[in-house]
Amino acid sequence: MTEQLAIMEEAARRAGELMREASQRKIRIDAKEGHANFVTEVDRKVQDLLFSFLSERIPKAHFLGEEEGKDVFSERDTEGLTFVIDPIDGTSNFMKGYFPSVTSIGLLRDGVPYLGVVYNPWSGQLFSAEAGKGAFENGIPIHTDTAPLSESLVAMGTGPYYPGLPDIAFSLAADYITRCIDIRRSGSAAWDLCMVASGRTGMYFEPKIQLWDYCAGALIAQEAGGRVTDFDGAPLSFRGPSSVVAASSGIAGEGGYLPRTAR
Ligand code: IPD
Ligand code: CA
Ligand code: CA
Repeated sequence: MTEQLAIMEEAARRAGELMREASQRKIRIDAKEGHANFVTEVDRKVQDLLFSFLSERIPKAHFLGEEEGKDVFSERDTEGLTFVIDPIDGTSNFMKGYFPSVTSIGLLRDGVPYLGVVYNPWSGQLFSAEAGKGAFENGIPIHTDTAPLSESLVAMGTGPYYPGLPDIAFSLAADYITRCIDIRRSGSAAWDLCMVASGRTGMYFEPKIQLWDYCAGALIAQEAGGRVTDFDGAPLSFRGPSSVVAASSGIAGEGGYLPRTAR
């Protein structure tokens, strides 16, 4: 394992400790822009912890994170190392004591995904990947499922913060549900990508998510043998928001899995 990946894993575990501690007490919650979009004091604290822990150990890296106005990808992020962080992915789950909520840490090298870590502090599952070196769950190699769509679960994201996107997501779900075992909605895009990576689901789709939602998880799913693209089948930009569809090797191999309506 590269030293940088070990540092990211340690950072994610510390973030998880903070989340677990905070779940024992009442926390402050603020509204953000968009429908039912919230940020808690813990999202901010976890982001601060990750920025300071990682910048002490990898001082040359740039930082991009969901909270506190640190969320804009710029030209400087196309060179050298840039951390892309979602301190808590699944904030509404976290607020409600519903699972999962995870910490997602991606690392871009010259604008290209290089390392990724997604940690679920409630289950202790840590997913990781290094470009070209495979994907792991708690250190054990993982692979996407080989089953066809008809024998797979499909996870959806509902695009909750953006007007019009839930309609698109649910019309796509209505189509997929006729072709798969059933639909799931976890509340965390990073987790959904790890579930495809580890073969528990066959697919995940969502009409629009942000760079910090997919940066680490998309690398993990790809390194596990999955195909991760936008709804048109084009590679993800790793620059900003995108539609995302992730498919196992079994489903991608069959073809015909890209969203067929409401593109
Ligand atoms: C959200 C979650 C959710 C997805 C949303 C994301 P947040 O992230 O990943 O599953 O549907 O699109 O924004 O707000 O909990 O960090
Ligand atoms: Ca998120
Ligand atoms: Ca978040």
